[in-house]
Amino acid sequence: MNFHILTLFPEMVLNGLDTSIIGRAEEKGLIHVEARNIRDYTNDRHKKVDDYPYGGGAGMLMQAQPVYDCWKAVRDEIVSRGSGNTAAEADEIKSGDSTSESAGSGNSSSGRRIRTVYLTPQGRTFTQKDAHDFAREEDLILLCGHYEGIDDRVLDRICTDYISIGDYVLTGGELPAMILVDAVSRLVPGVLHNDTSAETESFESGILEYPQYSRPEVWEGEKVPEVLLSGDHKKVDEWRRVRAILRTYERRPDLLKNLHFKKADRKLLKRVEMTAEEKKIFEKLLQDHMDSDRI
Ligand code: ADE
Repeated sequence: MNFHILTLFPEMVLNGLDTSIIGRAEEKGLIHVEARNIRDYTNDRHKKVDDYPYGGGAGMLMQAQPVYDCWKAVRDEIVSRGSGNTAAEADEIKSGDSTSESAGSGNSSSGRRIRTVYLTPQGRTFTQKDAHDFAREEDLILLCGHYEGIDDRVLDRICTDYISIGDYVLTGGELPAMILVDAVSRLVPGVLHNDTSAETESFESGILEYPQYSRPEVWEGEKVPEVLLSGDHKKVDEWRRVRAILRTYERRPDLLKNLHFKKADRKLLKRVEMTAEEKKIFEKLLQDHMDSDRI
């Protein structure tokens, strides 16, 4: 999978993504991250890429021309490389320079889009579901804004997605782009050694993951829960399900909407050790989240 990051600070994203699991994934050729300097595409003699906003207001805006030309250079390279398109689609994408790129369609009237994501606090909040969705693309263009943002005309022309990483404002889109690359890359087959760990962890099932413990068995007087040492896989799974649910209740009650109990889950109340308070919570959750056709 290829990530094309359009930015004014290429070294920032490249330095941030060249270590650990993501760095290794790139070495193995499972992913490729390129950072394109938007400034290299400006027509301005002084290499300027920003200007004042019409109508007044604080700060400067990134101008449409360098952003568009940078995006177009990347887009044309992807198209000429083939990247899963038929020749006809490639021609269409190439020839559709202006009209067919309009209205956020991304690129082509054939419906084939080169996914172009603008990182902005005005986007929808990035989720694990988005990460899976993006991981299906062969090429993903990530556009990082700076200053007060980017001229909306070019965004309308090229962007297929507007993504925020949370309701707070950063100085630019580089850190959000790096977060997105990290979250998407680890879903690319082969990037994680243990593919099942991506399935059991938080958000994959819609709720948080259960607590985990490693050696030593006793640390500073605190013992690992007995059941995890029992070797009884069924018991371990039951304990983990209960703990994941109670943890979600405590830390992220907003995610409980994703919780669906089956009839068999009633048995957990008796089978898994819980405090009296936890039992009450679990009983209430059973009442509220039992799949209606299974009661
Ligand atoms: N750029 C600045 N703040 C951002 C945010 N919260 N998410 C995505 N891009 C941003």
